[in-house]
Amino acid sequence: MKNQDYDKDRLEVVFSPETIQSRIRELGREINEFYRGRPLVAVCVLKGAFIFFADLVRELDLDVTIDFVRLSSYADRTARQDRILFSKDMETSVVGRDVLVIEDIVDTGHSMAFLVKVLNARGPNSVRIAALVDKYERREAEVRVDFSGFKLREGFIVGYGLDYAEKYRHKPGIYELTPGQGETS
Ligand code: IMP
Ligand code: MG
Repeated sequence: MKNQDYDKDRLEVVFSPETIQSRIRELGREINEFYRGRPLVAVCVLKGAFIFFADLVRELDLDVTIDFVRLSSYADRTARQDRILFSKDMETSVVGRDVLVIEDIVDTGHSMAFLVKVLNARGPNSVRIAALVDKYERREAEVRVDFSGFKLREGFIVGYGLDYAEKYRHKPGIYELTPGQGETS
């Protein structure tokens, strides 16, 4: 199917659907080992992590409760992590529980630094991060990615949940995007 706007961008495969699926199976095994016998609250960071989350939680052989958050940032002159807020908060209590935040990509780290700080203040037993892609070159905030799918130095990627102006989230692989020429926005 052709779509003119769509066709202006260039997409090059970085991680194929098969590569992603086999890495997620390994990650699932790691997480199962790590939390063996303990109940887990798995938190999906919307929107970008929705496909990764759905695939990863199905690999978990644990007592899992799922929940969702959505973060948004706003313009302010204070520290970067203070410019982030919830546009949707969790509904599950994390008190005394092990929490695994499942995120698409950690870039500067400000989003995850904010979320981990806020969740830790709510009295959980632990808060850890699983990220499909740990994109480390632009890291500014100190964040420990406990379970990382792939490491990537740089570049803008789309697909498998990740978007460029809300496009490409539905694509099955992960692609490096070169925006099309001649676009006005
Ligand atoms: P951070 O606060 O800079 O770590 O921002 C991370 C968020 O930025 C991710 O959850 C994504 O939503 C978005 N992001 C960062 N890099 C990319 C990318 O290469 N493609 C798509 N979204 C990205
Ligand atoms: Mg995101």
